[in-house]
Amino acid sequence: MALVDTKKMFKAAYKEGFAVGAFNVNNMEITQGIIAAIAEEKAPLILQISRGAREYASMSYLRAIIDVAVAENPDIPIVMHLDHGDTFETCKQCVDDGFTSVMVDASHSSFEENIATTKKVVDYAHARGVVVEAELGQLGGIEEDVVGVHSDDVMKHLTDPDQVVEFVGKTGCDSLAIAIGTSHGAYKFKSEPKLAFDVIEEVGRKLPGYPLVMHGSSSVLKEFKDLINKYGGKMPDAMGVPEEAIGRAVKMAICKVNIDTDLRMALTAKIRQVFCETPGEFDPRKYLGPGREAIKKMVKHKLHVLGCAGKAAACL
Ligand code: G3H
Ligand code: 13P
Ligand code: ZN
Repeated sequence: MALVDTKKMFKAAYKEGFAVGAFNVNNMEITQGIIAAIAEEKAPLILQISRGAREYASMSYLRAIIDVAVAENPDIPIVMHLDHGDTFETCKQCVDDGFTSVMVDASHSSFEENIATTKKVVDYAHARGVVVEAELGQLGGIEEDVVGVHSDDVMKHLTDPDQVVEFVGKTGCDSLAIAIGTSHGAYKFKSEPKLAFDVIEEVGRKLPGYPLVMHGSSSVLKEFKDLINKYGGKMPDAMGVPEEAIGRAVKMAICKVNIDTDLRMALTAKIRQVFCETPGEFDPRKYLGPGREAIKKMVKHKLHVLGCAGKAAACL
């Protein structure tokens, strides 16, 4: 099967109360770890590529890796998605490069400018059969070179449910990332994590059947945080979104859940462990291999949290 878009996935996800995992890929080992997990769990998959990933690995390498993944897993629907496209030009380039889904993130502009930029991307993408995710409201943390709102202030920048009908109506975007109190990165909360479930509920009521997206959804798993801190790393205050909260959100209108930090931490934890336990080791396969295996195990677990394990066939 060739790459697919998100339409059927989101329809099934909304109807059946699960979400599709959207995992960021930057190199071969990360991609292989994710693919091994979805192949075993028979889950639909969104592989997402940021501008930073395009710069780091180059699109031709990433595309070749993803083409192999698609060819080797003909029963699994796989989407190639641009994460946080900041301008029309970036989104256009990705549509031209064969992405089946792009995100335009003009959430830092005014409401009117966000509508105008998003609409321009939607017109270009839809004419070429590509779906578009947009964003309304602002997340915390750092994404690419844009610093989001401070994690103390995320609750002041939540999506305004009164704006969503006009935004989706005027832009024609296919899904919407909403701000519900999460941040990108490993430092999402200072004390007890809180998510604005009332915003999901309210937006869901105003746009029945419409797929919503949750960014900043890593949980900062204790297992990897502890390994990183034990083996010379320094992430004592890292805190993520509890998995129970994610399990609750996916039963509502959240159909796509973005995860990057948990992948980074799994890989980093295992590499640190190998370096510390066997300081004489210098064969990259001996530390990237365990990192890839940790990613596979972690993603398998996440697919159950999201409820999308076993749902590949329902998305075809
Ligand atoms: O939204 C942020 C994602 O974690 C991507 O991160 O832009 O550093 O590749 P990146
Ligand atoms: P995390 O930093 O929580 O993994 O979020 C990733 C993300 O939202 C990518 O768009
Ligand atoms: Zn994001």
